[in-house]
Amino acid sequence: MATVNPTLKQSADLSAGDTDLNRRVLTLIGSFRLIVAAAMLLVAVLQTDPIFLGGRYPLLFITTACVYCLGSMTIALVLRGEQAHTRQLAWLQLVVDIACITLIVHASGGIGSGLEALLVVFVVASAMTLSARSSYFAAAIAALAVLLEQTPDRLYAARLASPLVLGRGDGENFIASDIPAILSYTRSMLFLEDGEIAELSAEGIRIENATGETVQRQPKNITWSAAMAEKEGYKHFMLKEINEQPRAITDTLRGRISLEHGDVTLDEVPLLTPEAIAGIRRILIIACGTSYHAGLVGRLWIEKFSGIPAEVDLGSEFRYRDPLLSPDTLVVSISQSGETADTLAAVKTAKEEGCKVLSICNVVDSSIARTSDGVLYTHAGPEIGVASTKAFTTQLTALYLLALAMGKATGGLSTQELAIKVDALAKVPGLVEHALHSDAAIRDVAERYYRASDFLYLGRWLNYPIALEGALKLKEISYIHAEGYPAGEMKHGPIALIDEHMPVVVIAPRDKVYEKIVSNLQEAKARHAVVIAVGEEGDNELREHAEEFIPMPACSEESLTPLLTVVPLQMLSYHIADIKGTDVDQPRNLAKSVTVE
Ligand code: G6P
Repeated sequence: MATVNPTLKQSADLSAGDTDLNRRVLTLIGSFRLIVAAAMLLVAVLQTDPIFLGGRYPLLFITTACVYCLGSMTIALVLRGEQAHTRQLAWLQLVVDIACITLIVHASGGIGSGLEALLVVFVVASAMTLSARSSYFAAAIAALAVLLEQTPDRLYAARLASPLVLGRGDGENFIASDIPAILSYTRSMLFLEDGEIAELSAEGIRIENATGETVQRQPKNITWSAAMAEKEGYKHFMLKEINEQPRAITDTLRGRISLEHGDVTLDEVPLLTPEAIAGIRRILIIACGTSYHAGLVGRLWIEKFSGIPAEVDLGSEFRYRDPLLSPDTLVVSISQSGETADTLAAVKTAKEEGCKVLSICNVVDSSIARTSDGVLYTHAGPEIGVASTKAFTTQLTALYLLALAMGKATGGLSTQELAIKVDALAKVPGLVEHALHSDAAIRDVAERYYRASDFLYLGRWLNYPIALEGALKLKEISYIHAEGYPAGEMKHGPIALIDEHMPVVVIAPRDKVYEKIVSNLQEAKARHAVVIAVGEEGDNELREHAEEFIPMPACSEESLTPLLTVVPLQMLSYHIADIKGTDVDQPRNLAKSVTVE
């Protein structure tokens, strides 16, 4: 039996005729448009249009040629698998089209003759059709699965930009948009590349590339188990995933640290051998959403331990800022899904500029993983809840390992310093487990504040990104407006918002900025804010300053606090959303993998 998984997202609204539009047809249309455009330009230049227009409208031909050129460009972009600019180009075509009509009407003082009227109709119709088709093609960048009436024992699948997974079963094969959807049927999976088409029957899977050649591809064995993609008694996937963090962090550390030698080894990634690291002069981290927040923390670790300058950018911004890149820049992309369109596009741009790309990724063989030069996998297991939790803490773990490996290679960390940090890192899963014990206390806090309409999250240094992440978690699943802010910036704006209705979450582990953030806390209190402090167990000073105190375990290594402070914030968001009754796992308007720009 061949099965289409019901979670397949974007196969829906393509009609039977449209399914025939493959790359070859698009190429043909594109080439035809280019030829017509060239002919029109020639006519305009030679001004030899005596038959229909008596030489009156060369500009009309130029404009029409432009419309055709734009159409070809749009199709070319679609064929290259790029979504960028296609919609804008389609709109531009419409604008040119309107300009065209205006020109005709103006030049002829109204529509003068039947012949001219015919021409107007032709130009308008062709431009409109082209615009519509281009928009359509842009929207049709997706994965699709097709079942034809004539061949009910066969399924056809095609991929362009959006991910598509094929599962190999025993006497049955599957199509899905994501690995977890078919984990309970098979763990043997194949991943389609852009432009490829697959034919599935009960007996087998056949893949063809864009030029019709058969592609031989070995299936990958996915190590995630079916149970990992089930709730296992938890009310929500998010709650389950929060509780899985100790295990996920342990799995991400496994085989990469040695307590005996106080050492870290990432030799599984050739880009990260000590010799390779020695050639790196700059690090550029690129990510979106929660992964971006992990990158903000990672940057601080990398610079502190290795002395290599590092910066962080959002995938959606990086592409448009004319980035200054050189071959000695290591680009580090971070993505749970490995399918985020903006991050993927940024990775491609970096590669085009000659940079090596290392990805920190959770999904094996995802698009970003395959496009990169090396992958440092997080071993979080499948993350189903849209709001990322265990993926975040495993990304932090991977980034910490990366920073340690770089510190070791550059000499930024001495052997002794490295051993101390490795030892502290190995204790993190146990500390996270401990942090989960505050669940009941956090639920109580949530009960008291779930009606608030705005929250402010304050953090400094390593915990400023955690303030951003805490606020994002709350926004995503409870729909409460929340802002994360570097505490020192509060006086430059957000302080104006503070009153007795505004809960202010202050993240204050006892690190080098502790005194500073306590002073920010007092500033907020002086404006009657309701302060919810996240601090170390036994920190009575902080407890006295705040209305609410959420304890977290103390850590011997201050650089590791983000892995601990984020856990109570995840739980606070979870409980607030649960009490409000929102859809925790699939919040409105959000998607787990954002495969469109
Ligand atoms: C979406 C998800 C977020 C995630 C972001 C980046 O917005 O809802 O949870 O952080 O994409 O996803 P990635 O898979 O690239 O980490």
